[in-house]
Formats: sequence, C-alpha cells, structure tokens
Amino acid sequence: MAESQAAKRLVVLVSGSGTNLQALLDTVAATGTEAYGAEIVAVGADRDGIEGLARAERAGLPTFVCRVKDHGTRAEWDAALAGAVAAYEPDLVVSAGFMKIVGKEFLALFGGRFVNTHPALLPSFPGAHGVRDALAYGARVTGCTVHFVDDGVDTGPIIAQGVVEIRDEDDESALHERIKEVERRLLVDVVGRLARNGYRIEGRKVVIQ
Ligand code: GRF
Repeated sequence: MAESQAAKRLVVLVSGSGTNLQALLDTVAATGTEAYGAEIVAVGADRDGIEGLARAERAGLPTFVCRVKDHGTRAEWDAALAGAVAAYEPDLVVSAGFMKIVGKEFLALFGGRFVNTHPALLPSFPGAHGVRDALAYGARVTGCTVHFVDDGVDTGPIIAQGVVEIRDEDDESALHERIKEVERRLLVDVVGRLARNGYRIEGRKVVIQ
C-alpha cells in the first residue's frame, strides 16, 4: 500500500486584509489537510492590528509580528523575520499581500520555497502599485502572477498567471477587487499543486511534477 505523504507545512505572511490567506484557510478546512496537501502552521505580519492577523487568530493559528521599526537595520529585521518563520519549520512560505521585500538572510533559508502573489501580469507592472500602474498605462488586460521570490522586485520564476480585462469604468479599487477574485483561486490552486505534487525550478521555468 502506498503511504500517504505528510501535509506540507505553510507559513503565510500578510500585511493587510488577508483575503488570500482566508481563501487558503477555507480551502484547507473544506478539503482537509491531507487531501489539499498542506496545512497552515503560522501566520506572520510586518505590522499589528490588521485583519489578516485577526483571521489567523479566529482560525486558532499562532501569529507573529516582525516590524522593521523594532530593528536597528533592515538586515537585522530580515534576520529576525527569517528566524521567526524558521521556528515553524515550514516547507513553503507564502507571501499573501506581504508588502515587504525580504533580504539575503531570508532568501538564504527560504529561496526556492518562498511564493508570492502579485496583482499584475509580470514582468509588466512590478512593485507596490501594480494595479494602479496597469490602469494608468492604459493596458486592456492585467491580472495576477504567482511566482517564486528571488532577490529582485517581483522578478522570480513565474508559476502561474490569471488574466483580468480592464473595463473603461474601472478605478483602482474596482479593478483590484476583480483581480483578487482570480488571484485567490489561483493562489489556492498553485499552493496545493506545489505541496501535493512537488516541483523543480529550472532557470526561469517552474515544473510542477
Ligand atoms: C493582493 O492583491 C496582493 O497581490 C497584493 O495585495 C493584495 C492583498 O490582498 N500585494 P489580501 O490582503 O489578501 O486581501
């Protein structure tokens, strides 16, 4: 008889409303950790008082906060964040609306298993204002990208993308809400497939087995 594989351990990092985190929580609860292939073991943030942390607490998960301003240098913050995440021994770390660029120490520990979701079709419109920038540019389609994090800003190998049409009447918030509907489904699908199937990164290509 084939042995069932242990569910992969996920740490999710958030900075805001946490609806992507909620989509992961709901899917794990509805599907079961074994069938989904992963369980969320902790949620971390770079700030207090956000709905993302409240969602984790309501789900009974441990949380931690690692704020840049509590550390002397950015490198010290990065090392502290890496240590806080490492304490939960994750297989994968998911940045779900985590609005910070991690540094060398974090990537030394979690490079190749740190997944981010970005609200634009990379390599177009990287950075903190992907939705606003696509709208201002006059693009007719945009979307979301789930990718591995490397040492650039939204430059790591792409795992999956979802396309969203831009409507004439869109403002940033309406467009972002429609992107997030696609993004939540994409993130849940990608994280589950990475966890269940395993993957390898070949240069810029991600091959899910
Ligand atoms: C997502 O669109 C993510 O790509 C962006 O911020 C949003 C986070 O949404 N960086 P939420 O906190 O998961 O609701």
